[in-house]
Amino acid sequence: MISTYPGVVLGIESSCDETSLALLEGTRVRGLHIASQVDMHAKWGGVVPEAAARAHVEALLPGLAECLEQAKLSLAEVRAIAVTNRPGLIGALSVGVSAAKALSFGLAVPLIGIHHLEGHILSPYLTSPDFPFPHLCLIASGGHTELVRVNAPGKQTLLGQTLDDAAGEAFDKCARLLGLGYPGGRAVEECARQGDPRRYRLPRGVPNQPFNFSFSGLKTAVMRTVQTEGDRLNPADLAASLQAAVVDALVTKAVRACEQESLSALTLVGGVAANTPLRETLRREAERAGVVFATPEPIYCTDNAAMIALAGSVRLAGGEVSDFTLDVFPNADLP
Ligand code: KG4
Ligand code: ZN
Repeated sequence: MISTYPGVVLGIESSCDETSLALLEGTRVRGLHIASQVDMHAKWGGVVPEAAARAHVEALLPGLAECLEQAKLSLAEVRAIAVTNRPGLIGALSVGVSAAKALSFGLAVPLIGIHHLEGHILSPYLTSPDFPFPHLCLIASGGHTELVRVNAPGKQTLLGQTLDDAAGEAFDKCARLLGLGYPGGRAVEECARQGDPRRYRLPRGVPNQPFNFSFSGLKTAVMRTVQTEGDRLNPADLAASLQAAVVDALVTKAVRACEQESLSALTLVGGVAANTPLRETLRREAERAGVVFATPEPIYCTDNAAMIALAGSVRLAGGEVSDFTLDVFPNADLP
C-alpha cells in the first residue's frame, strides 16, 4: 500500500514536449489534461527545446483551467502542488516550476519537486493501487531504458540501463529511416501489424551484461537493411522485425532480472509501455515465470502529470517539502 497526502494534489509536468496538469485525490485521478506538442515538433523531425518551452508558456494555465473544470474542482480546493523539476529540457522544466511556485505561494500550499522517472515508476499505482513492493520496474521511454529495483514508494535503486540509445529512441530513429515520421513508436507498431517479424534478422544487444541494454547496433542494422534492400525493401516486415527485436531484448532482460533479484513482481512503464506487443509479451512471459505483472493504461505510460502528482503526494505524505529556491536540472540520478 502507498500512503498519499490528504486532499487534492495538483501535478504539473513540462519536462519535454507535453504540457500536462492533473488533479489527484489519493490515487484517484479527478482530472487530467495533456497538451501534446508532437505536431509542432514533427515538422522539424524532433523536439526543439526553445519551441517546447514557449509552447508550455502558452498551454499551461489554459490546461489548468480545463483540468479543474473536468474534475469539477475550484483552485481553492488544491491542497499541494507537485512539479517535475528534473531531468529534462531546462527551458521546458523552468516553465512548469515557475508556475508551480507561483501557485504554491498564492494558495499557501506545500510544493514538492519530483524526478520525472519517479513519476513513471509510480504510474502503475494509478490503476493498480495495491501492487506489491518490492518489485522490479522496467522503464522504457524516449530518453530512458532502465531496470530499477523498487523497494518501497520513492525508494529505488538503479540496476542497469541502456549503454547507448533508449528503446523509444531506437523506435524513433528507425521510424525516420523507414519514412514513418516522428515520433516513431506508434507509427512502427501500426506499420508492423501487416509485417512478418521473422523476415529480417536483427541484433538483440549485450547478452553478457544482465541488467544493461544496447540499441545502437539495432539502429545500424536497420539502416544497413534499408540500404542493401533498396526497392525490394518491405517496410512492414522491417518494422515488425525491429519491434520484435526491441520487445525480445526488453522482455528477456526484465524477466531474467526478476529471477536474479529474487523478485516476484514486475512493472512496465514509460512511453514505450504503450506498445501492445510489448505489454502482451511481457505479461505472458512474467506470468510463465511466476511473476505478477502490472502496467498502467496507455494514457499513463506516456508523459503525464497524474504520475507526478502521485509521486509528489507520496513524498509530501512522508513529510518532505521543497522551498521556493527549488531549481531545475537537465540530468539527475534517481532519488
Ligand atoms: O515517456 P515518454 O512519453 O517521453 C519520455 O519521457 O521520453 O516516451 C516517448 C517515447 C517515444 O520514443 C515514442 O516513440 C515511444 O515513447 N512510444 C512508443 C509507443 N508510443 C510511444 N513506442 C513503441 N510503441 C508505441 N505504441
Ligand atoms: Zn517520460
